[in-house]
Amino acid sequence: MMGGVEVAKKLGYEVELRFEGKAKFYSPPLPSPKGYAPSSLPVFFNPVSKPNRDITILFLAAYFEGRKIRVCEALAGTGVRSIRIAVETVVAEEIIANDVSRNAYELIKINAELNGVGDIVRASNADANELLAMCGRGRPRYDYVDIDPAGSPAKFVENGFRGCNRGAVLGATATDMSALAGAKAESCMRKYSAKPLKTPFSKELGLRILAGFMVKTAARLGLASTPILSFQKDHYARVFVKVERGINSAKEKLRRMGWISYCPKCLAIYTRKWVEEPPTTCEICGTRIDYGGPLWLGELTDKELVSKILSRAYDDPSTYKESLKLLDALAKEDTSLIGYFPVNALAEKLRSSPVGPSKIIEGLTEIGYKATITHIDPGGIRTDAPPKVVDEVFRRLCVKT
Ligand SMILES: C[S@@+](CC[C@H](N)C(=O)[O-])C[C@H]1O[C@@H](n2cnc3c(N)ncnc32)[C@H](O)[C@@H]1O
Ligand SMILES: [Zn+2]
Repeated sequence: MMGGVEVAKKLGYEVELRFEGKAKFYSPPLPSPKGYAPSSLPVFFNPVSKPNRDITILFLAAYFEGRKIRVCEALAGTGVRSIRIAVETVVAEEIIANDVSRNAYELIKINAELNGVGDIVRASNADANELLAMCGRGRPRYDYVDIDPAGSPAKFVENGFRGCNRGAVLGATATDMSALAGAKAESCMRKYSAKPLKTPFSKELGLRILAGFMVKTAARLGLASTPILSFQKDHYARVFVKVERGINSAKEKLRRMGWISYCPKCLAIYTRKWVEEPPTTCEICGTRIDYGGPLWLGELTDKELVSKILSRAYDDPSTYKESLKLLDALAKEDTSLIGYFPVNALAEKLRSSPVGPSKIIEGLTEIGYKATITHIDPGGIRTDAPPKVVDEVFRRLCVKT
């Protein structure tokens, strides 16, 4: 086994040995914990994305339990994600860790050997689109395809689906939150063919735009895709969809796409199906309002799956400690409730000091409404209660405190 000095000599740049999950791997030294551009390194690595990798691994172990699957990590960087899949799960019999960069390819081979998983993790040095587009045309498809670019996954998603076997899952990360959450609206329209909307819950709308983009792209290929695990954290959004064949099921998924309108005055949230017109005037207070979409209006996450993932994470809390809080929140959240009321916005509207979200959630459920937290904002309340009821509960709690 080569040491760090030999590895650096072979690769032609400095490396450091890092540890993540149960894997060890070489990466270029990271200049400073914050404020560096990972893409400026000879090979990309971002330690902040550990929860993204943790949850991918826990997801694969839970979803494919009892099966042997083929995985393609189409944009693999150092290969740490693929190596962790091989080391921390028993489901993968073959993992293609691909990267267009020659530096990344050479490093993946070294890192796979370093962990003793060179027989499972096979390095590949191709353009992700070329690799995936060949699947089904002389190349076997995969049970799990991972797309994790720096920026938007939009240009890889269609071929990602081409790489998917029947019953497979496609997981995609987007780090262009400024486009998805509405700061760069034209970028969002160009990449995702969707109009973003600035609201206090724009990040959720961004997550739903990404999920909707995956559903639309699959439908074009005659595939039905369903989001089964989605989250927004730090600088990125991540969606896993399961993929099935069938034009009718693809159409059925498209019926769950639509528009969201939001009133900044009374905080009302409106949803409309894709075939309907989104409202442009608030039905409650008459304010002119704007809309975003088309986006995914269905559930973002399968609760049963999340509870399996969560229990696996708690079986080994030291390995997955950075992800426990996020998984706890995902397990409590009801994403059939679209958008949320941030307590700060409520307090501002009612000219009062904020009340803790848990108290409002309790107050709403006591009177028969659905209400949960959201993983996206610790001060957010998802509910099916109309704004007037939320205001009443909020006021009542203000008087009490
Ligand atoms: C965000 S990094 C991947 C990080 C990795 N998945 C992880 O979890 O650490 C994105 C990688 O995509 C690679 N890349 C960029 N364009 C590509 C393309 N067209 N095909 C394959 N790889 C590409 C870059 O070289 C970079 O290593
Ligand atoms: Zn209104």
